[in-house]
Order: sequence, then structure tokens, then C-alpha cells
Amino acid sequence: PADRFRVEGSSSVWRADCRAKGGSPGFKVAILGAAGGIGQPLAMLMKMNPLVSVLHLYDVVNTPGVTADISHMDTGAVVRGFLGQNQLEDALTGMDLVIIPAGVPRKPGMTRDDLFNINAGIVRTLCEGIAKCCPKAIVNLISNPVNSTVPIAAEVFKKAGTYDPRRLLGVTMLDVVRANTFVAEVLGLDPREVDVPVVGGHAGVTILPLLSQVKPACSFTQEETEYLTSRIQNGGTEVVEAKAGAGSATLSMAYAAVKFADACLRGLRGDAGVVECAFVSSQVTELPFFASRVRLGRNGVEEIYPLGPLNEYERVGLEKAKKELAGSIEKGVSFVRK
Ligand code: NAD
Ligand code: LMR
Repeated sequence: PADRFRVEGSSSVWRADCRAKGGSPGFKVAILGAAGGIGQPLAMLMKMNPLVSVLHLYDVVNTPGVTADISHMDTGAVVRGFLGQNQLEDALTGMDLVIIPAGVPRKPGMTRDDLFNINAGIVRTLCEGIAKCCPKAIVNLISNPVNSTVPIAAEVFKKAGTYDPRRLLGVTMLDVVRANTFVAEVLGLDPREVDVPVVGGHAGVTILPLLSQVKPACSFTQEETEYLTSRIQNGGTEVVEAKAGAGSATLSMAYAAVKFADACLRGLRGDAGVVECAFVSSQVTELPFFASRVRLGRNGVEEIYPLGPLNEYERVGLEKAKKELAGSIEKGVSFVRK
């Protein structure tokens, strides 16, 4: 019986690898930080995604247990675990998409920028691995402060000579998910029917919901606009305070990360009209990076849409957002260049 298990195990790995190489959709995805608060539910949800044929789970702790657990789910993707820096290259080799939720989360009273000192180095090391082992992979960067970690990743890739701005995306999907939820509450609609563009970045005033562009078309009083903007900008802090020292958003983030990763994979597959908000290299403003609606395709970001008409409240918000973003971007760039 022991042999029987071994044979079945290896043949299922073989079948999945064939699927991954063959014409049918099947992408290889790595999660870096897979044993964490976001990483675990994200790994579970990606194991359920039919577009994923191979799922690599990498962390510096606890991946054997998480991998054994998730590998028992009766879905198509084959799961492999990788533990510690020595296994980073194996975890990354051959990947089509790398999702990075590695790093420390906030505690009450902290800003996302307070995480810079620890997370900047983690992101740099992981991106050096990506540049070496899967330079063509699409990268979904979740680790905070996103407004600085995306510029850090870009600088690492530039140094390595592998930078393709279309393939590096800071994940701001949770801001959109929150905006859809809170706006739907105010309008009395099902959140699945609501689409709110959120632009700028992913921290405080840099999170700029464009409430004048909500679909379905609607209007808000000044009081509603101020309430919604503040709730969306402070959604992360709301969770940090409710968790009271036990971390920040993990479950809603895993949901948002999978929604975004799925959009990236549908783009890679060649689906038409895949549009989401993300923090990317951009010429939409004078800043080198900015979050806005982007069209995803076979090369990652295929098109970046302009912000569209803004009302006075949003124009003032945009100026505030740009001021803070400029400093956060510069901080990330100089961390690698210095
Ligand atoms: P967590 O502490 O629960 O998990 C982080 C994981 O990263 C841990 O398992 C840890 O072992 C791992 N890790 C640490 N150093 C690593 C390294 N060098 N290589 C690989 N893995 C490493 O934290 P979390 O709640 O999962 O949050 C992770 C990050 O995501 C935080 O920086 C948080 O601020 C950020 N976050 C971003 C968003 C967003 O919208 N972009 C939303 C929520 C959280
Ligand atoms: C969030 O928006 O929930 C994350 O960026 C985590 C945090 O620190 O708020």
C-alpha cells in the first residue's frame, strides 16, 4: 500500500506538469510569505483556482505544515512547499506569477511606513530571487508600504537588467473591494453590482476613491462623500484597531489578492477586457508610479487608463495624494540606490 501511495502521488505531479506545459490553461504560481496571515488563506484560494496547475508555497517558517494541509484539497493544482532562503530559487524557477505577502503587518498606532525598515529588505531579497529565477513572471506585490515596496522592486529589477514595468503590480485591490462594499451599503445595493475606481496609492490620503465615477451612475451628498472617502482611506486602520495587536487585514486581503491574481492570469491567458486598479509604473501623473485602472493582458499591464474627469473634492484629494506619494516613492528608490 505504501508503494501504491507513492506511485499515485508522483503520477499526479507528472499529470499536473503536463497540464502546465500543454495547451490547456494552467499557470505556475508562487506565493512568498505563504505561511502568514494572508499567505495561508491566499494559498487555499489559489489551490481552488482552475487556472492554476502548480502552486509553490515559500516562507521562512511553517511551509511543510501549510503545504501538507492544502495539498489534500481535491482540486487540480499540485502544491509544493519550500522552506527558508536556501529553497527560494527552487520555489521561483519556472513561475508565471509570483504573489508577495511576505513581511510584518501593522499594530495599532503604526503607519504603513513604520513597516519600511523591516519589509524593504525582505522585498529586496525576494525580488533579487525573482530577477534571477523567473525574470518574466508577473509580480503581485502586497507587502507594505506598497507605495515604497513597488519602487524598491523596480530598482532591484533595473539593477539586475530584467525590469519590465508591465510585469510589476502593487496590489491595491483591497481598497477597491472596501470601496465597493461601503458604497453599496450607502446606496442599498448588492456590492457585486458596484464598481468604484480607487486611484493614487495604498496608504492614508494616497488612497483616492473616485466617487464621481461609481458604476452604476449615482450621486452622493457632501456628507456621504466625506464619510465614504474617510472610511475607504482608513479601512486598513479600522481592521488593525479591531484586531488590537494581532495584525492587520488577512482574510479580506486574501480574497482581494485572489481576485487580482485571477485577473492577471485571465490576462495572461489572453482574455479580452480584463481591467482592474493597480499601483504601477505610470505616466498618468508626473509621478513615476501611480494606481489607476489598467488593462491586463499577455504581458501584464497592456494599457493604463487616464483618471477621467474629477470633481473639485477629488482634485484637492489628488494633490494631497501626490504630495505624500512622491516622498514614499523616493524613499523606496533611494533604499536600493544608496
Ligand atoms: P504575517 O506576519 O501574518 O505573515 C507574514 C509572513 O511573511 C510570515 O509567515 C513570515 O514568516 C513571512 N516572512 C517574513 N520574512 C520573510 C522572508 N524573508 N521571506 C519569505 N517570507 C517571509 O503578516 P500578514 O498579515 O500576512 O501581512 C503581510 C504583509 O502584507 C504586511 O506587510 C502587511 O502590511 C501587508 N498587507 C498589505 C495589504 C495590501 O492591501 N497591499 C493588505 C493587508 C496586509
Ligand atoms: C490594509 O489596507 O488593510 C493593509 O494595507 C494593512 C494595513 O496595515 O492597514
